[in-house]
Amino acid sequence: MTRPLQLAVVLPTLNERGNLRALVERLGAALEGIAWEAIIVDDNSPDGTADEARTISLEDPRIRVIQRIGRRGLASAAIEGMCSTAAPCVAVMDADHQHDPALLPAMLKAVAEEGYDLAYASRFAEGASTEAWGRPDRVKASGFANSLARKVTGVTLSDPMSGYFLLRTEVLRKDAHRLSGVGFKILLDILATVDAPLKVKELPLAFAARAEGESKLDRTVVFEFLIGLYDKWLGRIIPTRFALFGTIGALGVVVHMAILASFMEMFGGTLMGTIVTPFEIGQTVAAVVAMTVNFVLNNALTYADKRLRGFTALARGWAKFALTCSVGLLANVGVAAVLVRFGMHEYPAALSGIVVGSVWNFALSSKFVWGK
Ligand code: GDD
Ligand code: MN
Repeated sequence: MTRPLQLAVVLPTLNERGNLRALVERLGAALEGIAWEAIIVDDNSPDGTADEARTISLEDPRIRVIQRIGRRGLASAAIEGMCSTAAPCVAVMDADHQHDPALLPAMLKAVAEEGYDLAYASRFAEGASTEAWGRPDRVKASGFANSLARKVTGVTLSDPMSGYFLLRTEVLRKDAHRLSGVGFKILLDILATVDAPLKVKELPLAFAARAEGESKLDRTVVFEFLIGLYDKWLGRIIPTRFALFGTIGALGVVVHMAILASFMEMFGGTLMGTIVTPFEIGQTVAAVVAMTVNFVLNNALTYADKRLRGFTALARGWAKFALTCSVGLLANVGVAAVLVRFGMHEYPAALSGIVVGSVWNFALSSKFVWGK
């Protein structure tokens, strides 16, 4: 068989062993008469998906396998798979049978013959359905994520979060190095990244229930999605990490005030006449707690990718963070005091102090607490 390859279907997999064989069969049936290959991009799944994929590949050489070691993520797996084919058109679809392969010929026709750059299957287009999905919670969440994504990126599709699409490989290859490759939102990323707007054909999808196994979309993925949106929206002006750090810092102020207020409420009338006042003790407790809360949140969110784990690492990190913040506090108060002496109004001076202190805290903690 020497017909030139027309289509590659990229199947990112994480623990999909039980779904592969039937999927390959469905692909073969749907793509009758088309010269195709499938590329299974597996992230070293513990269930042995890659072994199963290789077994299938020995029986049917149209099936290729990329087993990635030490890397994770649907979007980056899809990008790697798409870049690994010589076919002029490439599709990405889930390997769990939620995407009907029967749509592929129409998608291929749109791109190969009708002049579209990209065709995709929408769960929210007219004629589409999500009932069989059996996850009303996910339908709602997905609808919300879609509308948020449309607002932020200016993309107008009904389902830019869809994981089922087909495009000219060349379009992808040209911009692949600029894609973020984080999380699940690969289609959205492509649409928001390419310079010239793509001509897109939308097909309604009857989104099925997952066949075997379970979904890998968890809270981390949702958080990554929000971060990705922010990054596209404002990331160039205020870097994402600094924005997170600042937001958490502001939250720390709220925590501080709440603790101080309840402390004063409880002990305000007592301890009178002692050397330290209730305010001084309350202020100290509030500062330590707020700083600890900040440390924990920054460790979990701002530096999720460099998260400190284990008691010793956390204790050392906390101590370094405390040291950094106390110097930051000195810088904060110092700058504000100098500005007031030079005649600046107290509030703008205080604000300037806060900004200087935060930048200091951010710069130093990123290097000494979460740096290498
Ligand atoms: N290689 C690799 N690495 N594959 C992965 C990873 C990963 O880290 N995470 C998930 N996959 C594979 C799964 O094995 C599956 O074939 C496909 O990517 C989709 O993952 P699911 O876990 O089934 O996602 P879902 O059904 O919950 O999410 C659906 O909706 C999302 C938007 O709401 C999918 O259609 C997604 O593609 C879509 O973005
Ligand atoms: Mn799925």
